[in-house]
Amino acid sequence: MYSALNALVLALPLTVSAETVVGVYMYHRHGDRTPKALKPANLTDLGYQQVYQSGEYYRSRYVDSSADVKINGLSSNIVKQSQIDVSAPSDDVLQNSAMGFLQGLYPPVGSTSATETLRNGTTITAPLNGYQLIPIGSTSTGASSEDSAWLQSTSDCGNSEVSSNNYFASSDYTSLLSSTEDFYQDLMPVVNGTFDSDYVTFKNAYVVWDLVNVAEIHNSSINSSDLLTNETLFQLRTLADKHEWGLAYNESDDLRAMAGMQLAGQIVSYLNSTITGKGAGKFGVQFGAYATFMSFFGLAQLPAANSDFRAVVDYASSMVFELFTPSDDVSSSNFPGSDDLYVRFLFHNGTATNASEPVEYPLFGRSNSTISWSDFQSEMTKFAVSTTEQWCTKCGNTTGTCAAYADSSSSGSSGASSKSSSGGGSGISTAVSGVIGAMVTLAVVLGLEALIMLVAGLRLVRKPSTKSVSGGAGAAGAASEGAEKSAA
Ligand SMILES: *[C@@H]1O[C@H](CO)[C@@H](O)[C@H](O)[C@H]1NC(C)=O
Ligand SMILES: *[C@@H]1O[C@H](CO)[C@@H](O)[C@H](O)[C@H]1NC(C)=O
Ligand SMILES: *[C@@H]1O[C@H](CO)[C@@H](O)[C@H](O)[C@H]1NC(C)=O
Ligand SMILES: *[C@@H]1O[C@H](CO)[C@@H](O)[C@H](O)[C@H]1NC(C)=O
Ligand SMILES: *[C@@H]1O[C@H](CO)[C@@H](O)[C@H](O)[C@H]1NC(C)=O
Ligand SMILES: *[C@@H]1O[C@H](CO)[C@@H](O)[C@H](O)[C@H]1NC(C)=O
Ligand SMILES: *[C@@H]1O[C@H](CO)[C@@H](O)[C@H](O)[C@H]1NC(C)=O
Ligand SMILES: *[C@@H]1O[C@H](CO)[C@@H](O)[C@H](O)[C@H]1NC(C)=O
Ligand SMILES: *[C@@H]1O[C@H](CO)[C@@H](O)[C@H](O)[C@H]1NC(C)=O
Ligand SMILES: *[C@@H]1O[C@H](CO)[C@@H](O)[C@H](O)[C@H]1NC(C)=O
Ligand SMILES: *[C@@H]1O[C@H](CO)[C@@H](O)[C@H](O)[C@H]1NC(C)=O
Ligand SMILES: *[C@@H]1O[C@H](CO)[C@@H](O)[C@H](O)[C@H]1NC(C)=O
Repeated sequence: MYSALNALVLALPLTVSAETVVGVYMYHRHGDRTPKALKPANLTDLGYQQVYQSGEYYRSRYVDSSADVKINGLSSNIVKQSQIDVSAPSDDVLQNSAMGFLQGLYPPVGSTSATETLRNGTTITAPLNGYQLIPIGSTSTGASSEDSAWLQSTSDCGNSEVSSNNYFASSDYTSLLSSTEDFYQDLMPVVNGTFDSDYVTFKNAYVVWDLVNVAEIHNSSINSSDLLTNETLFQLRTLADKHEWGLAYNESDDLRAMAGMQLAGQIVSYLNSTITGKGAGKFGVQFGAYATFMSFFGLAQLPAANSDFRAVVDYASSMVFELFTPSDDVSSSNFPGSDDLYVRFLFHNGTATNASEPVEYPLFGRSNSTISWSDFQSEMTKFAVSTTEQWCTKCGNTTGTCAAYADSSSSGSSGASSKSSSGGGSGISTAVSGVIGAMVTLAVVLGLEALIMLVAGLRLVRKPSTKSVSGGAGAAGAASEGAEKSAA
């Protein structure tokens, strides 16, 4: 009764205005997991539930036939692979989170829809009540993020690592390191089973907080838990936030935020392909680590809208970019021109549900959370990295695939994707395979049909074997191969 009323009230303002959402790009954090300090980290049942609920919420927002903000033409019940593009790094927690989310977004269709009759008359019903198989592409960077204490190392970007390391030389850092020494040492009895005392300092603020946070959620018997007062827990979290923000973003040194720049490139490329493809690609979803949120928040000046954006986002947080037009008459033959398109940014801290929906925030220090597509594109392009060449140049990497751009005769992004296939022939090193993975992701984002077919070929693969099978699929496998090496 209450929730029905609530849903009605929430739905009202959205249904009044005549507008059509033609495409969405989403970036999503994983659900609750075990601590980074105890590798390998796993998605917990709680985390599975969180991402599943988030998928259910976004189903009711974008996918369902009665959805509040239905994406124009998006298939409601049976997934159409060409309309949706899902990716996550080669990381078990993130891959599994993406899978759990998709189960909520496109639930099993039931045995009636998932039944076919063969030529010889035999009737076949798909397993698991018509569970839908949706391929998840592997992004090049971020491999094993959830097992890494030092997230910038998963960016693979030389100059970003240097930049983040500079944080450890800043006065912000050194003064906190010394002023919090006693605070951390006082917590030793709580964590001494896991960490040595020289590890427990502000230098490892996130990993220490992460261990305690996981214990606070899962463990009924924490060592010396009387030391963990609300105030201490708050301070641990706040210090971790400061530490991670310092590593993810610096106003006068954009390179630190390479993860956010790459994400910006992916967002613009995806939504641009939605426009140029007249709405063919409709829903891009990427799972990733919290540091990418922070880098992006910094670049997009979200702290100007709310200073809370300087903190680590909760598990299963999501941000979405909705591309819409103020008209309810849209089809591929009557697709709006870029002058009639707008972008709206929304964020939800933690699992989005009917009872707690994402909130709009203005980007780029503006006051309006709706922005025209051309403004959005030009603001994003100021920092977006969308080609391998840009990546190599900014990161200062000159070997492997980046060697192609080390001399002046460069050929741009189209050259980059053809190189990925020719490079495949001659023994690829791990580092190079990372870059090839980057180009594969880019190609997927650009909606190359051939690549979609390649990935769609993987859709009969069940969860545990996703990585090994994608490893067999030509260049796409390079990324997972690299990940297995770095995980080892
Ligand atoms: C994660 O799961 C693996 C088995 O799949 C197990 O060996 C490992 O200990 C688990 N990690 C934690 C922190 O529980
Ligand atoms: C029909 O074909 C399927 C698949 O080839 C096979 O498993 C099944 O035994 C066949 N049924 C009959 C009655 O021949
Ligand atoms: C880029 O350079 C850094 C530092 O030299 C290195 O750690 C990283 O593996 C390189 N990445 C690639 C993809 O070559
Ligand atoms: C941000 O970058 C500037 C210029 O490189 C540097 O002086 C400053 O210390 C950096 N701040 C932090 C917190 O890293
Ligand atoms: C951790 O500290 C507690 C309290 O000081 C002590 O009783 C315990 O033996 C210590 N455990 C280890 C593994 O050092
Ligand atoms: C608490 O102490 C026990 C025994 O020393 C250890 O096994 C456990 O990991 C400790 N808990 C934490 C959170 O460090
Ligand atoms: C819970 O905490 C106790 C004491 O710190 C520790 O011995 C135990 O291993 C922890 N359990 C889990 C599941 O982490
Ligand atoms: C600590 O916070 C929790 C919830 O945030 C609250 O239930 C509890 O009463 C607080 N404890 C103290 C001692 O303030
Ligand atoms: C958008 O797509 C068109 C056609 O593919 C391309 O020419 C243009 O460069 C793209 N713009 C951006 C910003 O990606
Ligand atoms: C998200 O929630 C955490 C506390 O759970 C808070 O520290 C952070 O500032 C919040 N972020 C935003 C953007 O609201
Ligand atoms: C959320 O609200 C929608 C209607 O807007 C409803 O169809 C859906 O069942 C609700 N989901 C949950 C989990 O209550
Ligand atoms: C925000 O921008 C949109 C699109 O330009 C415009 O329609 C709307 O009136 C603006 N809202 C406010 C409060 O300025």
